[in-house]
Amino acid sequence: MISVLFVCLGNICRSPMAEAVFRHYVEKEGLSGRIRIDSAGTGDWHIGEPPHHGTRKKLDEVGISHAGLRARQVKPSDFDEFTYIIGMDDSNVANLKKLAGSRDVTVHRFVDFIPGTRYTEVPDPWYTGNFDETYELVSKGCRHLLETIKENHGLK
Ligand code: 4NP
Repeated sequence: MISVLFVCLGNICRSPMAEAVFRHYVEKEGLSGRIRIDSAGTGDWHIGEPPHHGTRKKLDEVGISHAGLRARQVKPSDFDEFTYIIGMDDSNVANLKKLAGSRDVTVHRFVDFIPGTRYTEVPDPWYTGNFDETYELVSKGCRHLLETIKENHGLK
């Protein structure tokens, strides 16, 4: 099974948004049985909490379900289990590489799946308050990520 883990700092704003949006696209293409999707945070402050009100409001607005999402922290076994581990910003990627230790894993940057973007990181709406901007980037990246995975794994 192909698996994708989105990672941010708190696992309440950006990575659960990416998890929900990506799952929506995967379901629309009938690939739910082929791709497992999850998200996690490098920090532990929000473990067990649903996504931030701003993330839920934006997802409601675009008709994408966030049912059942609860924050969790990255754990060592994630590095053995997931095919794609994707950090939302540079500090997430750096923290993931540190946590991976000597394991031979590739940690991806979410922005690398957004064609032609001028952004080098997905802005954190916890600080910017701008969930619309983050959603635009997340939706573009998720669409392209799915195309990339379909190509890489012969799902077309
Ligand atoms: P996220 O945003 O990493 O996109 O979930 C944040 C959520 C909470 C905190 C920081 C960023 N915090 O400091 O609690």
